[in-house]
Amino acid sequence: MTVTIEVHLTADYLSQSLRRDVKEGLTSTPKSLPPKWFYDADGSVLFERITALPEYYPFRAEREILADRAAEIAATTQARTLIELGSGSSEKTRLLLDALREAGTLHDMVPLDVSESALREAAEAIAADYPGLRVHGVVADFTAHMDRIDGDEPRLVAFLGSTIGNLPPDERARFLSEVRDVLDTGEWLLLGADLVKSPDVLLRAYDDAQGVTAEFNRNVLRVLNRELGADFDVSAFEHVAVWDPEHEWIEMRLRATEDMAVTVPELGLDVRFAKGEEMRTEISTKFRPEVIEGELAKAGFEQTSRWTDAAGRFSLVLARAV
Ligand code: SAH
Ligand code: AVI
Repeated sequence: MTVTIEVHLTADYLSQSLRRDVKEGLTSTPKSLPPKWFYDADGSVLFERITALPEYYPFRAEREILADRAAEIAATTQARTLIELGSGSSEKTRLLLDALREAGTLHDMVPLDVSESALREAAEAIAADYPGLRVHGVVADFTAHMDRIDGDEPRLVAFLGSTIGNLPPDERARFLSEVRDVLDTGEWLLLGADLVKSPDVLLRAYDDAQGVTAEFNRNVLRVLNRELGADFDVSAFEHVAVWDPEHEWIEMRLRATEDMAVTVPELGLDVRFAKGEEMRTEISTKFRPEVIEGELAKAGFEQTSRWTDAAGRFSLVLARAV
């Protein structure tokens, strides 16, 4: 079994970027925090629980498409290296690994994630289950360390789960251009993107009956308490999911249920929350097919195939760098 893990997110880098993000987010109006800080070890486990919820259709819808199309993706791309950004548990990715192994082209897998615990667990499990595959895990931030991904060509970069939807439009455009820049002409991007649909369905997916999404959302406050010595009273914030019809995204927010004064000693910051005040913690953009194709083209990709699940909820796009 060959598995190596490269850690780019040093304690220093993590604490500096967390500090910068938190200082900026908590001193802005309205307050906000970027979603990448959800994913400490507990946050990654909570996300895994979300994927099993009856209301959270994206995981199952994308898995359905992959099960139907993995062989076609393998035959088209002939990928020697599979790079997965924001890989998490890499559970669905096994469908691609199986197909690429069957096609006889795959030698290397490069999962990349900001969550070291999730990455190590997934990389070790894959190396154990796919003898002969070289697994090279990278703990890194895909908004900052795109230049760290490498591997023999042709390479297929998978960005699944609609994590692209968690980036605001300007970061999304930059992200796609950066992926294009690390690829050579003729290499591949496989992009999972959730589609615009009834707000009722969306709101249920982001505000489940068991309250797992609420715990996932509040987990970011636990991260701030632990990493920055903050004194958020986590239980005094309630989970809110809102559909924004103008931007066509779900916003997750944390609403203060009472007036609160929070200190963040590591930042020398005192922050006040008024009762009812809402802090944005995530956007989850829902896409229209023509928007995905247009944004890919702008970044230097040609969309070669687009598939949806049978119910038309989620899309998977295969694009070639041109
Ligand atoms: N791809 C998996 C997991 C999606 S959850 C799936 O489809 O089910 C989003 C994943 O992206 C998490 O594992 C999280 O840790 C990771 N992530 C979020 N922001 C990131 C960033 N800026 N850089 C690298 N990984 C990130
Ligand atoms: C990782 N990402 C695509 C998930 C989403 O659906 O936006 C994160 C998530 N937030 C709430 N539930 C799941």
